[in-house]
Amino acid sequence: MAKIAPSILSADFVNLERDIRSLKDTGADWVHIDVMDGLFVPNITIGIPVVKSIRPITGLPLDVHLMIDRPIRYVEDFVRAGADWLTLHIEADQPQNTLDALDRIHALGCRAAISLKPGTPAEAAIPYLSKCDMILVMTVEPGFGGQKFMANMMPKLKKLRTMLHTANPGCLLEVDGGVDSATAPVCRDNGADVLVAGSAYFRAADPRALVKLVHSL
Ligand code: DX5
Ligand code: ZN
Repeated sequence: MAKIAPSILSADFVNLERDIRSLKDTGADWVHIDVMDGLFVPNITIGIPVVKSIRPITGLPLDVHLMIDRPIRYVEDFVRAGADWLTLHIEADQPQNTLDALDRIHALGCRAAISLKPGTPAEAAIPYLSKCDMILVMTVEPGFGGQKFMANMMPKLKKLRTMLHTANPGCLLEVDGGVDSATAPVCRDNGADVLVAGSAYFRAADPRALVKLVHSL
């Protein structure tokens, strides 16, 4: 069974509480929160106070995806704000800082993940494999919801699954970008455990159907 993490980037921000509470009713597994700083990606979204406000209104795990420059500066703030999973991009800092950030996240009692942009090869993850609870493979250029799924990322996903067999079998693989009812099975076939869905979930006439489909994979 795969898990689904709806990305609230596609929620109705005026009714964010309503949209987050509804996730439980549809059977969604996690809440995916996209944090962007206008530097690492050309968009600015949600920050620490919003994560803190979301924390008390849901019991679902908060899956916080940091698309920010030098994330080590803020990992403690996001964990304290309520993140259960904290993902940082390996392109966003020097390797030693990324390793230190992963250790810091774990020391604070949170799960730690790395993410790879589409142009970053699977091999770039090697130094971090043993320190990760999850690896996020981007299937769009990070920055915006509603983009087209990059099917050419599937060989990278498959390669990471193989690498993890020996390096860290318990590590999850997550896919983010353009996931819908057509592309979700493709992600699962190539090794994904957790599927992020923004527009396909929040614009669906029946989000329960998408959740049910993902759970059947
Ligand atoms: C993009 C974000 C995604 C985005 C996905 O940078 O990381 O989480 O919300 O949106 P969809 O599912 O619409 O591609
Ligand atoms: Zn995301």
